[in-house]
Amino acid sequence: MPGKSGKSNRRDGFRALLAYAAPYKRTFVAVVFCSLFALSADLLQPYLIKTVIDEKLLTGSHGISRIFVIGGLYLLLAIIALIFTYLQLNLLQRAGQGIVATLRNDLFRHITRQSMAFFDRHPSGSLVTNESSDTETINQFFTGVLQSLVKDGLSLFLIVGFMFALDAQLALYCLLLFPIILCITILFRRMLRESYKASRSRLSRLIAFLAENLAGMGLIQTFHQEKEQTDRFREHNHLYRRATLKEVRSTVLFNRSFDVLGNLTVAFVVWAGGEAVLKQRLEFGVLYAFIAYIRQFFQPINSITQQWNTLQSTFVSVERLWAIFSREPDVQEPAAESAVRIEEDGMKGRIDFDAIHFSYQPGTEVLHGLDLHLDPGEFVGIVGETGAGKSSLVGLLTRFYDVTSGSVRIDGTDIRMLPQTDLHRFVGLVQQEPFLFSGSIIDNVRLFRPDIAREEAEEACRLVGADRWISRLKHGYDTLLSERGSGLSAGERQLISFARIVVFKPRILILDEATANLDSHTEKMIQQALGVVSVGRTTLVIAHRLSTIQKADRIAVMRDGRIAESGTHKALLALNGYYAGLYRHSQRGKQEPVYHNLDSGEEISR
Ligand SMILES: Nc1ncnc2c1ncn2[C@@H]1O[C@H](COP(=O)(O)OP(=O)(O)O)[C@@H](O)[C@H]1O
Ligand SMILES: [Mg+2]
Repeated sequence: MPGKSGKSNRRDGFRALLAYAAPYKRTFVAVVFCSLFALSADLLQPYLIKTVIDEKLLTGSHGISRIFVIGGLYLLLAIIALIFTYLQLNLLQRAGQGIVATLRNDLFRHITRQSMAFFDRHPSGSLVTNESSDTETINQFFTGVLQSLVKDGLSLFLIVGFMFALDAQLALYCLLLFPIILCITILFRRMLRESYKASRSRLSRLIAFLAENLAGMGLIQTFHQEKEQTDRFREHNHLYRRATLKEVRSTVLFNRSFDVLGNLTVAFVVWAGGEAVLKQRLEFGVLYAFIAYIRQFFQPINSITQQWNTLQSTFVSVERLWAIFSREPDVQEPAAESAVRIEEDGMKGRIDFDAIHFSYQPGTEVLHGLDLHLDPGEFVGIVGETGAGKSSLVGLLTRFYDVTSGSVRIDGTDIRMLPQTDLHRFVGLVQQEPFLFSGSIIDNVRLFRPDIAREEAEEACRLVGADRWISRLKHGYDTLLSERGSGLSAGERQLISFARIVVFKPRILILDEATANLDSHTEKMIQQALGVVSVGRTTLVIAHRLSTIQKADRIAVMRDGRIAESGTHKALLALNGYYAGLYRHSQRGKQEPVYHNLDSGEEISR
């Protein structure tokens, strides 16, 4: 977030995160108790053995039955430890997964509320990472870090307690190890963190590369880039592998140093304690129990340090998630009390762009004081070179973005005063690349709305002339489309989006280069469909080919973020200005080129 430091961002983020854990307060308390029971049952076991050794085996006192009793107790403790560990892990996972599921839902809803400017800044690849791996890290925080803090912290505490209860002097000697442990931990911690971060970032680069390549596979194959891309992939893969190996090496090194330290301590206890036993200052059972506890002492320390990594990545994830969560959509709903409702029946469909200034980024203005007024039911074409600002103008009418200054009004009402659900019911947009969802054709036409009758959607397809090819499909309207409708031609996809318009009946229709990708035959089909759907609607058609809008009531010519000329096709030609130049240019391209066959001297025309 601009103007906020990472730290305070992180604090706010964690506070928000803890709010997600609030409903699971009781579960967490239960987890703490389960850990306590399980640990105590675990740690009492060496104590029992010590009792057997000191009271029975070494003193030679009889009463085998008491040994049985103690054996039974030992088994009981093992079972108790098992049951409570099981309960604890289950409860913890339930809470963790519950928290993360809610988080994922909220994040998705939040992202879908965002304005287009948000998506300009957040590429979809990184949002996918946010939804999947960042939320998973949060789960690991609750199930791993918290559980380790509770369980391992508690167990350290208990072990030290038991050791002191057994023999204070020996326990004190052992505690002298703490500074050494601390030094090793700090030393390795930095190394571990660096290598962990490095391998994570290598992995995310690998994934991003893969995603990009899958999306551009057609391009890669037509340009025969397979080898180049494979080489680049190999490089990414190699770097990731190296980083992972390095991470594994440091982890192993760290764990083994701990083991060595543990074994040295055991040796020390055997040496110091053994001497005490021989001099009969210490009972043998105590020594046994001591060694058992020392062995268990290192495990929680080790696992706490390992959670350090997770904690680090939790920080990163929380910051990233919070940066998204704390971002309000740029395009705001009108306040409920000032919102203006326009009745759909009473709507005329007048559109006014008044003195529009607009920039995507401060400092680079794209539209400079543009004025354009459309009468109800008028059919207006917009032409202009690439980058003139045509799509930007449309984006303002649909409120993908808001104007920097000036206003866009529908029937005299500033569209910022209209509830967005109303606005988007009034304004229908067909873009160059129509978006289809995976699902059946019929559902793509009615956009999964169960309240729209199947017959209505089919009728819409007939109206725009899509039924001709749909009826030829094996499953007809129920044909399942794969991702983005990749099984259909561009024209077929576009016809489906036209049928959508017929079904949803917006009063205002916008086409942004909807026919740019189509061959001339399909364009004719689309033209016919347009003729059908534009009746009675205010229609704004941005055209790539001038022929598409020649019959428009009016043509507005855009140039560098302004309307340069405006009028009917005839009037504009008569003006002999910018439009006339564009028109002549387009006509030139249309002339049939004549090729000479040099060998035979024949003329062939294509
Ligand atoms: N999302 C965006 N972020 C920043 N600049 C943009 C964005 N979209 C378009 N532009 C810029 O705005 C200008 C007008 O673009 P656009 O409205 O798409 O033109 P047209 O549709 O007429 O080809 C161009 O200079 C383009 O680079
Ligand atoms: Mg455009």
